[in-house]
Amino acid sequence: MSRRGVCRQLAGWMMASPLAAQLDLPYSGERAPALEELVNVFEFEPICRLRLPRQNYDYIAGGVDAEWSLRNNRGAFDKITFRPRMLVNASNLDLSLELFGTKLSFPVLIAPTAGHILATPEGEFATARAAASMETVMILSTNSSQPYEKVAETTKFPKWFQLYPGPDMETTWERVQRAKESGFTALVLTVDAGYNSHRERLLRNRVQAQVPAGVRSPQTERRRRVREEEAPEVDRPKMYGLSTTLMHKLDWVFFEELKKRWGGPLLVKGILAGEDGALAVQHGADGVIVSNHGARYLDYAPATIDALPEVVSAVGGKIPVLVDSGFRRGTDILKALALGATAVCVGRPPLWGLGAYGEAGCKRVLELMRTELALAMGLCGKATLKEIDRTVIKM
Ligand SMILES: Cc1cc2nc3c(=O)[nH]c(=O)nc-3n(C[C@H](O)[C@H](O)[C@H](O)COP(=O)(O)O)c2cc1C
Repeated sequence: MSRRGVCRQLAGWMMASPLAAQLDLPYSGERAPALEELVNVFEFEPICRLRLPRQNYDYIAGGVDAEWSLRNNRGAFDKITFRPRMLVNASNLDLSLELFGTKLSFPVLIAPTAGHILATPEGEFATARAAASMETVMILSTNSSQPYEKVAETTKFPKWFQLYPGPDMETTWERVQRAKESGFTALVLTVDAGYNSHRERLLRNRVQAQVPAGVRSPQTERRRRVREEEAPEVDRPKMYGLSTTLMHKLDWVFFEELKKRWGGPLLVKGILAGEDGALAVQHGADGVIVSNHGARYLDYAPATIDALPEVVSAVGGKIPVLVDSGFRRGTDILKALALGATAVCVGRPPLWGLGAYGEAGCKRVLELMRTELALAMGLCGKATLKEIDRTVIKM
């Protein structure tokens, strides 16, 4: 029997076990629910949890420290309600939008996440196909488990590339060049991960908190060499027992150099303060992503739905503002659009889909989000994204 067959049989067995009941799955019986039976995005998570090795699941699901921001990313949505309008003709629903020359069927992109082989054997190839089939953009992580070039050519639908600078400048520029030559249409610079955070679930599992097990890391050797050769006489982060990435030394001067070398649309990911949104515009960013990295770096970073209004206001409509961290429902997305977001990115939901049902699961997660958004828009009396404004919500 194939590996996948074994996994499926094991999952079926586990679904029939008392463990399934403990996880509060609304399904009973002797089998795992069929994909079509799942009614919302949350339901993919426990199935993913049953199917993946514990450390893979914990790597995906976990946040930093005591996970306050992880909980608050969700809790913050509860403070916002809608002001639906009635007797408007909202029959001509159209969720599509254009971003940097690409038409997306709905305003949800796949956020960059590392190591998709932790969720499914095909890794990022499966994600790329799911995204393309839903006509939306996948943002490929620097820490992809599959080669950038091969993921880029998996489908014709445009994809973006996410950049973590490091371990040295030479490797950083090489990555940018590879992304350019592979045909990625926009670059996303992640700026919130200069210091490696403490993911306590992983530390308890005795897994190195930042490097997912099983993910190939072609730069590992180089990273070690760079650390040895370039260790400054007094390495203050080390003195405090901290581990860092190249990002902790970089500033807007680097950003401008990157903009010159990349030459295409460049977004900054990880913005949470209005001042940084304004600086992004000033330094020539083509877009910002309001993000707390899915609550994986700084605990007590604000929920992004709370941080969004000040960034939108500082950016002043000059460039698109995207947002991620905690988005699971169509209503979450509508709230962000009402607060001025151009689109939303999702990190864990596609991984839950992949972990639970492979490519089909990833696609279904996106479909559910699209359907829920369409429904929420229709019920609020808004047929198109352009019609959505602050009057849609109450907070
Ligand atoms: C398993 C996992 C791996 C991630 N890897 C990256 C990464 O390589 N680069 C990056 O910029 N963000 C990474 N992120 C953060 C996501 O891009 C995104 O900001 C976050 O997942 C959004 O929150 P959500 O998971 O609640 O949707 C990762 C998130 C998760 C859950």
